Amino acid sequence: MSTLQPGDRTSSVDLSLSPRAGDDNDEPSDYESPNGTGPGGRPRRHIPEPPLLNQHGPAKVLAICNQKGGVGKTTSTINLGAALTEFGRRVLLVDFDPQGALSVGLGIPAHTLEQTIYNVLIEQSVGTDDVIIRTSVENMDLLPSNIDLSAAEVQLVSEVGREHALMRALRPVIDRYDYVLVDCQPSLGLLTVNALAAADGVLIPLECEFFSLRGVALLIDTIDKVKERLNPKLEITGILATMFDPRTLHSREVMARVVEAFGETVFDAVINRTVRFPETTVAGEPITRWAPRSAGAKAYRTLAREVIAR
Ligand SMILES: Nc1ncnc2c1ncn2[C@@H]1O[C@H](COP(=O)(O)OP(=O)(O)O)[C@@H](O)[C@H]1O
Ligand SMILES: [Mg+2]
Repeated sequence: MSTLQPGDRTSSVDLSLSPRAGDDNDEPSDYESPNGTGPGGRPRRHIPEPPLLNQHGPAKVLAICNQKGGVGKTTSTINLGAALTEFGRRVLLVDFDPQGALSVGLGIPAHTLEQTIYNVLIEQSVGTDDVIIRTSVENMDLLPSNIDLSAAEVQLVSEVGREHALMRALRPVIDRYDYVLVDCQPSLGLLTVNALAAADGVLIPLECEFFSLRGVALLIDTIDKVKERLNPKLEITGILATMFDPRTLHSREVMARVVEAFGETVFDAVINRTVRFPETTVAGEPITRWAPRSAGAKAYRTLAREVIAR
């Protein structure tokens, strides 16, 4: 396993923000209606305390998936991963988007890496462990990607077992982790099908905007097809409402509609829209470290507890 030190991880341009100024009260509070109900007016469910683990693995693989861009897939992958480590879980994040935003969001300059997940998928001689990098979060590793991965989609088409390339790549390391989170690209192409074929569950981040509901039917259709043809164990682990603004009626209406449509599948954890998340990307840190007491950090911890309980 190669290790990048914190000093290596940022470019020479200093983009630093004033560290952790005003950790808490400068943002809309956690989603909470006056009578204490959860999202969409539903009573909050009891989420059990995560059990302590005395051994690790084999990992549950979750694909973080939505073919729409900008809905919070990458943000949720980083922050759910970091929150899971706070509960003693070992986590591998897989950057499965050629944009490499997950790698960059963890402060890793993916464009300079010589080997990424692309090499594992395409070259027999490159093993998964040759490419895994430790992140600055203890017990959270990364399988990075960069723009090279965009070629894999084309190159895999002519391969035997092309839908299972990611599954083959994960097999040698799956016993070491409790969760593998795969950050999918915004499309339903072959890379995403690979993620779904390797996954036990799908986590769907859904932006609290009216038009975001439209695309979900197509996504669920794809999930059903993969389940039927490639991966019978695949389930939808949950739908995560993101970019929620408790001050707008629109957000609350969309939230109610999402709960009406998807019921119990919708997580109680709701991620508010806050500038704190773009800040963490610049900082190259999860929000659980950048602003540990913020509503955003708390919401991702709640999500982690729900994910462990499901
Ligand atoms: N809850 C949020 N509130 C405000 N901005 C957010 C939130 N979650 C993500 N963002 C920002 O929105 C942009 C898109 O988020 P990202 O996680 O990259 O989405 P995706 O991976 O689905 O394309 C990023 O700039 C990110 O920092
Ligand atoms: Mg992304």
